[in-house]
Amino acid sequence: MQKYFTTPIYYVNDVPHIGHAYCTLATDTLARYWRQRLGAENVWFLTGTDENSQKTVDAAAKAGQPIEAYLDEMAAQWRAAWDDIGISYDDFIRTTEDRHLAIVHELFQTIFDKGDIYKGTYKGLYCTGCEAFKTEQELDEHGHCPAHKRVPDQLEEDNYFFRLSAYEDKLLAFYQQNPNWLQPESRRNEIVSFIKSGLQDVSVSRETAEFGISLPMDPQHKVYVWFDALINYYSAIKNTDQESFWGHVEHIIGKDITRFHCVIWPAMLMSAGVSLPQGAFGHGFFTIDGTKMSKSLGNVVSPVEVSERFGSDGLRAGLLSSFEFGNDGDFSMSQLEDFYNSKLAGGVGNLFNRVIVLLHKFMDGTAPETNRCEDAKQLEAKFDALIEGKKLKGAYDFFFATVDVANQRLNETEVWKLAKVDREAATEIFTELYGYLEFLTHMAETLLPESAPKMKAMLGGDGKVGEAEILFLRQ
Ligand code: MSP
Repeated sequence: MQKYFTTPIYYVNDVPHIGHAYCTLATDTLARYWRQRLGAENVWFLTGTDENSQKTVDAAAKAGQPIEAYLDEMAAQWRAAWDDIGISYDDFIRTTEDRHLAIVHELFQTIFDKGDIYKGTYKGLYCTGCEAFKTEQELDEHGHCPAHKRVPDQLEEDNYFFRLSAYEDKLLAFYQQNPNWLQPESRRNEIVSFIKSGLQDVSVSRETAEFGISLPMDPQHKVYVWFDALINYYSAIKNTDQESFWGHVEHIIGKDITRFHCVIWPAMLMSAGVSLPQGAFGHGFFTIDGTKMSKSLGNVVSPVEVSERFGSDGLRAGLLSSFEFGNDGDFSMSQLEDFYNSKLAGGVGNLFNRVIVLLHKFMDGTAPETNRCEDAKQLEAKFDALIEGKKLKGAYDFFFATVDVANQRLNETEVWKLAKVDREAATEIFTELYGYLEFLTHMAETLLPESAPKMKAMLGGDGKVGEAEILFLRQ
């Protein structure tokens, strides 16, 4: 079995915030889980940057930089941010790379040759914030784009159109035959009723765009940024050693971009004669202290700063355990601080430290001889079902519930007293506790990857436990 996970590719008109980190961390969690199960060679994890956008051109102009220099600098910043917070991507694609351009040209030409791209005139609205064409119905009472609170641009230009309308029935049949393709179910229902309401052809080029990929058959026009961006998932592996991963790709995206990924993208692939992805998951959005994150409100949180303070495990566990993956939720720094102190420092950190200290003190540092706690198989199956069902909060809750059970066993057995009077009985308790530590370490490879190697070191080897460490310093 193989697995290929992708995140959206992010716009580089700004640095990452924790909304972007949320999606990337969730995808990272899935990639790490499957690497542990299937071996690293059978998992591929792609992320990257979406660079052929008018937003970027505007941002470069504002920064007073030539576009190429700006893009290089911003892409490097995104990459560095993901490195800082422990994202284990296998590849990072930039849509300004030649490898991407070549495949965009190839696909555009194939779809054109098939007769699914034709030339016409686009007259209507365009929001640069969304990088999307808008209808009047989509605007609010002030005629503003609801997401960007500004009047979209009025456009009239020659455009190439993709015959999306021809794919209505094929898409509906696809969704019927693959009922679990898009998760969660609420997202699927939204998309299916959107398709049923009737699909219009979509513009896939911009005559007036200053920057981007030129059309192979008409270089004066640029490929519409979304048409180009979606292809990244394919261009990154096409004609490489990783090409076989294509048959196993799953897209992890936010709910804001499901229409692009779950209507237009499958139709593009159908038209080009490329097989469809294995699935897509549209996660929810979170607010900060009940308010939408926005630059103007000044409540944008940097994942790098959070990770500097709470460690990358603090950031990922805090975010992913706040609300279930797929739902909307809320996040706050005070909630993260409580979580960090009670669950990480006071919970799992304290448990590891106590058990290892006691093993040194009473058992000469001898590591108990079992592998895993008594009902390991059942517990493991429960954990696997949670992650495989993408219940990421569920998986963290299960992890911390296991910590609580182990801590409770430690307290109720008072093994430190027992060890002085009945070494055999104490050995039995230590064996049980050590089994819990092993199981927690196993899950930590997925859930707390920064701490997992430290946990492993504490478990030790060759019959001896390692040194007791502090996994999470109280804040
Ligand atoms: N460039 C496009 C995607 C192209 S994919 C072929 C884009 N980029 S983006 O930089 O705007 O990132 C959007 C993604 O960021 C969302 O789909 C979502 O995963 C994530 N989030 C942004 N804000 C978020 C929240 N407040 N909450 C959760 N996720 C958020 O769209």
